[in-house]
This record gives sequence, C-alpha cells and structure tokens, in this order.
Amino acid sequence: MNAQAKTQTPITQKHIDFYQENGFVQVDNMLTPEELAELRGYLEEAMQTESDRSKSTDKKDGSYYRVLNQKVNLWRDHAGMGKYSFHPRFAQSAMKLSGASGMRFFHDHGLWKMPGDSKATPWHQDTPYWPINEADAGMMSIWITLDDVNEDNGCMAFVPKSHKLGKLTGIDLANPQNIFDFVEGGQSAERKPVIVPLKAGSCTFHNGLTFHYAHANVTDKPRRVLAIIFMPDGITYNGKEHLVTDGAGLTAGQPITGPRFPLLAKTDV
Ligand code: SIN
Ligand code: NI
Repeated sequence: MNAQAKTQTPITQKHIDFYQENGFVQVDNMLTPEELAELRGYLEEAMQTESDRSKSTDKKDGSYYRVLNQKVNLWRDHAGMGKYSFHPRFAQSAMKLSGASGMRFFHDHGLWKMPGDSKATPWHQDTPYWPINEADAGMMSIWITLDDVNEDNGCMAFVPKSHKLGKLTGIDLANPQNIFDFVEGGQSAERKPVIVPLKAGSCTFHNGLTFHYAHANVTDKPRRVLAIIFMPDGITYNGKEHLVTDGAGLTAGQPITGPRFPLLAKTDV
C-alpha cells in the first residue's frame, strides 16, 4: 500500500452509493476547525492577488461578477492554497466516490458570491466548459464552503440523477438559457432539485454532468468557497483554448498530464 492510499478520508460506502446514484453527495466536516481557519486566511490573501497565473474571470463591474467573483488557479500564486488544493484527503475522497483508479488535479478556483445585486448561479453542467474529448469523463468538483451557507447566501442545489442525462450545452452563466429546455420532459417532477445548506468546513462533491445551481447572496457578506476540479487519470485534451490548459504544453488527443496536472491519488493496483 502506498502512502497516499493510507490517507484517511471521511468517505463511507453510503457516500459512494449516494454519489454514484445521484451524481452529488454532501460530506460534513471535511475540514477541521484549525484547517478552516487557516484556509480562510489563505483564500482571503489569494483572492487579492492578480497575475497571469491566477486569474479573475471578470472585472468588478462585469455582469458575471454579480454571479461569481471567480479566481482560477489560486495554487499557482499562493503556496498555502497549494497545500489545500493538492490535499490528498480531497483527491482520495474524489477517487473513492468516482471509482477511478487515479485522480489528477485539473484546477482550483475561489468561488465567492458577493453581496449587493447578487445573481443566482443558473442551472448548468460543468463538463461542457472543459477542453476534453470525453463526454462522460467522470470529472468532478469538491465544493468546500468556508462560511455556513443556506438559501440566503448562495447554497447549492442539485438535480439527483441528472448526471445520467449526458453532456448538454454550456450555459452562459451571466445570460443563461434554461438547461431544462435541452432535455426531454423539461423540469418534470422527477427532476426536483435538492437544496443543500452546509456548515462552514463541510462540502459537496458533484459530477461534471450533474445539473447544479446556487442561490443569490442576499446577505451583506461574501459567500466564500474553494472548489477543486479532479479528473480521472487518462482524460484527453481536445486542443481548444482554455484558461487552465493554455501554455501547459498539451497536445490535442493526448492525456492531460504534466506538472500543472499532478496525479494526486492512485489505487494500489
Ligand atoms: C457557485 O459556487 O455558485 C457555483 C459552483 C459551481 O457551479 O460549481
Ligand atoms: Ni458548476
């Protein structure tokens, strides 16, 4: 057994079964109180740093900023963020849930929902935004909240089993289409969302194909989230432009590998 395989995760068979069936799962207390305090400090610092390596996706007066104050690749400018974005507990947890035999890092991002004219994150799937060939890639996100979240400050909602609907179109998050228009039967009764309030330090995992949404933040404080995207080892690059893969020396059709995309978890076999 290698060192990483011994990493303790809070993932139980119940979590795995729920994730496989529904395409998302809630995992409480992913962070200890000490880790939560440390990560809050690091994330506050990292969100202030702007460079070519860690990038905000919109300006403060932009329409997407009202949906999300998003900064991608925090680890590239902040070693403290590296500690958390590459934390083996998170990658091991993702690997156990997905059933993959190896899990690579794709990217991290701070996802802050700012107070003041806040907009909901519209229903969408994540997979259509990624520069990969595989339609059902098993890629997934961990969404760790550093604040208690509920329907007033931007907690998430998921449509159970929607990861089985296949890859649809990428929704424009600032000017959204209705994703339910793209599936037969629309928003039928069996596509009823599950709203997931969480305590700070807890998280959800969701499959890149799962329909998800986040409420607007009508409070007077930011909702601070760190999300990390993992990909099963072997996922291939499709050659398209993307903030995360640009300049990484990847070749279209080849597996995404290299120093920006480390293999963080691996089974023994
Ligand atoms: C959000 O944090 O508001 C949305 C997260 C996601 O789309 O994965
Ligand atoms: Ni998303």
